[in-house]
Amino acid sequence: GLLARRQKPLAGKTIVMTSGPTHEPIDPVRYIANRSSGKQGHAIAAALARLGATVRLVSGPVTIPDPEDVTVIHVSTAREMRDAVEQLLPADAAIMVAAVADWRTANEAGEKIKKKPGEKAPALQMIENPDILAGVGHSKSRPRLVVGFAAETQDLLANAKRKLDKKAADWIVANDVSHATGVMGGDRNAVRIVTRLGVEEWPDMSKEEVAERLAAKIAAALQTVEV
Ligand code: CTP
Ligand code: CA
Repeated sequence: GLLARRQKPLAGKTIVMTSGPTHEPIDPVRYIANRSSGKQGHAIAAALARLGATVRLVSGPVTIPDPEDVTVIHVSTAREMRDAVEQLLPADAAIMVAAVADWRTANEAGEKIKKKPGEKAPALQMIENPDILAGVGHSKSRPRLVVGFAAETQDLLANAKRKLDKKAADWIVANDVSHATGVMGGDRNAVRIVTRLGVEEWPDMSKEEVAERLAAKIAAALQTVEV
């Protein structure tokens, strides 16, 4: 009935998400990664589940617990994350929050690289990782709503708008991660929602509050009748 729909507006909807960093191995004991605690992505997954959605979260390596009432697929590398996301399509929405490493090493060593006296430091060859969000945005089974995140240290809005188009996303949640803001690893976030209709500026709030508000906005978007 009406009350149930108000309390669980995402009942019957499936949402695929990514969160956390990816780890790209250099050798069996070393890796390259982006900074990401997974706090914001995991909070969004939990908030969507509270609104009744069936949430499948592909998480990179994080130290925080799995969000409640969410199916979590644990992966390590960007390629594993991409494969897991592809397996989870089709879905009603995709919310890609992960801080995916843009590059991986092209010359991953099978054994631990040892220091040898008098030898130069090893040179890392890097190759580009797949863009998971762009893959979903351009997919034949594209979800109705595709949301990406953009952490920027400069030209926030211009960069976010470019990403909207390049990745065929509906919204980009942009946040300023320049050092002074303390967003990285912290509990607060000030975001802007960049859509083709314009930019919504949200005040500084906790990552929990950002999650609640974003989940409500996603619910509203998925409830509108398709035209
Ligand atoms: N993303 C992704 N796969 C990648 C890189 C990014 O899915 N290989 C997603 C992120 O999860 C995020 C969005 O794309 O939702 C934007 O990520 P960001 O790193 O800001 O964008 P890039 O296109 O990688 O641009 P750059 O790092 O150069 O700013
Ligand atoms: Ca990137």
